[in-house]
Amino acid sequence: MTYDVVVIGGGPGGYVSAIRMGQLGLKIALVEKAKLGGVCLHWGCVPTKALYAATRLVARAKEAPAYGIAFGEPRIELERLTTWKEGVVRRLTDGIASLLKANAVTVIEAEGRLAGPGRVALSSGETLEARRIVLATGSSPVEVPGFCFSDPAVWSSDKALALSEVPERLLVIGGGVIGLELATIYRRLGSAVTVIELLQEILPGIDLGRRGLSLLRRSLAAQGIDVHLEAAAESLAATADGAVVRARSGESFAADRVLLAVGRRPNSLGIGLETVGVAADRRGFVLVDEHLETSAPGVFAIGDLVPGPMLAHKASAEGLKLAAWFAGEETALDYSLIPQAIFTDPEVALVGLSEESARGAGHEVAVGRFPYASLGKALGMNEPEGFFQVVAERKTGRLLGAQIVGAEASDLISEAAVAVENGLTVAAIADAVHPHPTLPEGLKEAAENALGRAIHTANR
Ligand code: NAI
Repeated sequence: MTYDVVVIGGGPGGYVSAIRMGQLGLKIALVEKAKLGGVCLHWGCVPTKALYAATRLVARAKEAPAYGIAFGEPRIELERLTTWKEGVVRRLTDGIASLLKANAVTVIEAEGRLAGPGRVALSSGETLEARRIVLATGSSPVEVPGFCFSDPAVWSSDKALALSEVPERLLVIGGGVIGLELATIYRRLGSAVTVIELLQEILPGIDLGRRGLSLLRRSLAAQGIDVHLEAAAESLAATADGAVVRARSGESFAADRVLLAVGRRPNSLGIGLETVGVAADRRGFVLVDEHLETSAPGVFAIGDLVPGPMLAHKASAEGLKLAAWFAGEETALDYSLIPQAIFTDPEVALVGLSEESARGAGHEVAVGRFPYASLGKALGMNEPEGFFQVVAERKTGRLLGAQIVGAEASDLISEAAVAVENGLTVAAIADAVHPHPTLPEGLKEAAENALGRAIHTANR
């Protein structure tokens, strides 16, 4: 059977691309060895957010006596929580299957690998022929020498999300996004959580400004999450006091479970790259040109497999760009404008440049800020912690970036993302009437503040 395109991998890169290519009338096969939706749907974005939302109730219930509503001690039934989380995942998985069907995409349940130009060999023994092939095989968690996921004391993020138990003491290795998101969830579930991070600061590699980082650090401490910086995990020993991790700094940390969250690597081994001469870099990322084509003509790659932020929405954006390209349309994807949302408490969301990076890049900037504590809606929600910040080019007012740290930041950043993507000015945000009382008023006020005319904060 010959297809216009065979896509290998059904995560948010592969399935989104396949649906759009189906909409464009191409004959598509999507090969997936596990479940449609990939890591994001089954072991990443979606289950963590279901657990983030569910466990947020525990945190809120603890605060409720402050406004006159008291609950008893929460009783957490892990089995029901797991069933609920899986129900969310199942609904979305079924949705993807029916969307693929509605767009005439042939879904093949098998492991696929390149087998020479225009050929994909399946684990079933069959071979597919294709005019073009899209690799979208994603990424997997990295191990550290001496720490193996086969050791029951060592958890990967997959194991943490399986919710098999709530350890009394959880040690998280890696103060990156996964480490901090799971630290937040397990702390709310009742674990004593310690995070050790190799570098001098949490969330390295994320362009979060100084103000946001210090607020987040304070807030992690207030939740009882103990963060140790410049502590590189070096060895693990099983002792009578549980798993003991030694750090290069000389400190040691005892725990019942150790969650290893030190990054992910692209799944580029075992997919037949060598059969067509697809080039990858030293770390295994498949190299692509501006049309996402690899060094092998007719073979394309998207998502975590290629360099760039390892984010589901980046993978989907690449999948859409590729589908457009196959239909003869050239679309731009500016990687510097891809927003990010981090589900800690408070949430962190950002798009474009931070104040520090904008100055570092030589921009003369106007910065506007607005605190959650001055927003009626935020106070009514008992969410006074956090701020909105916009960074604009001083001369033109063009928005260069925005950072929001606070309740619902992940939902609030999209207004700024639209503005940055479309080259809008802070005045465009400031002049738009925003409904009152709502959280997005905070972004409007920050934009007004950048123009020196905020109403509800001092304009300095
Ligand atoms: P990461 O790269 O964000 O963080 C890994 C951390 O581990 C780094 O801070 C690193 O310095 C530290 N580390 C490395 N070796 C260490 C050692 N021996 N001891 C102590 N610390 C050590 O990687 P992470 O959190 O595993 O996430 C993987 C990818 O998935 C990232 O690109 C992340 O952005 C993405 N992701 C994004 C999410 C979101 O946007 N909400 C959610 C989950 C993942």
